Amino acid sequence: MNNPPQERMVWNETLAKKLMTQWNDDPDGRHYYLLKHTAAFIPEECKEVLDVGCGFGDLWPFLEQKGFTPEQYCGIDPSRAMLSRARTRFPQLDFQQGDVFTQLPASAFDCVVSCSLLVHLWNKEKAIQHMWNHTRRCLVGNFVVGEFKSRTESRIGVDDELIHHIPVVWVQEILNRLGGVEQIGWKTPDNVVYFFRVWRKCL
Ligand SMILES: C[S@@+](CC[C@H](N)C(=O)[O-])C[C@H]1O[C@@H](n2cnc3c(N)ncnc32)[C@H](O)[C@@H]1O
Repeated sequence: MNNPPQERMVWNETLAKKLMTQWNDDPDGRHYYLLKHTAAFIPEECKEVLDVGCGFGDLWPFLEQKGFTPEQYCGIDPSRAMLSRARTRFPQLDFQQGDVFTQLPASAFDCVVSCSLLVHLWNKEKAIQHMWNHTRRCLVGNFVVGEFKSRTESRIGVDDELIHHIPVVWVQEILNRLGGVEQIGWKTPDNVVYFFRVWRKCL
């Protein structure tokens, strides 16, 4: 059965393969900037991380710098192409095929993180809720909340259909509805990306 329209991914395998030819080549670019700031939002107390929409596993070096060991990391992604490259780059890590809507691991993780995932999904609230249900302590991620100045800067090339951003107030409403105890957010100086962390009540 086809997914209902609100759950359609903007993303697909063809675009993933295209992206593989034009990404990851600029350590000073936005991609690494987003990863760096996302990693910074992951609290030291968290002993394990589920990286949803892990792509090539590019978050890992930033986690390693924070002191995480390979056993503390699991990456999931629906794209075989992305996972194959991630496994080649980081054979020590656990990468699993999965989907934020239908196929998250059975167990919960201290911290569930998603970097540059939500912008590619139509039903952001459902994705957030699913990730929230899989976290024991906190949820970390980012939303695109404004227009990129240029397609080059977005690092995604010509695929306008890949980008689906929403206003920051909608983001905050979605996060408020989770009912966490503490929520922090930070918007990049160019007002394009909003980083967030939400803590669960039990702590
Ligand atoms: C822009 S990439 C970001 C990859 C990685 N998080 C990073 O920042 O380097 C978006 C990733 O989300 C994955 N993705 C797309 N739809 C997804 C879904 N429904 N569930 C989980 N991941 C998804 C894509 O396959 C892709 O690897």
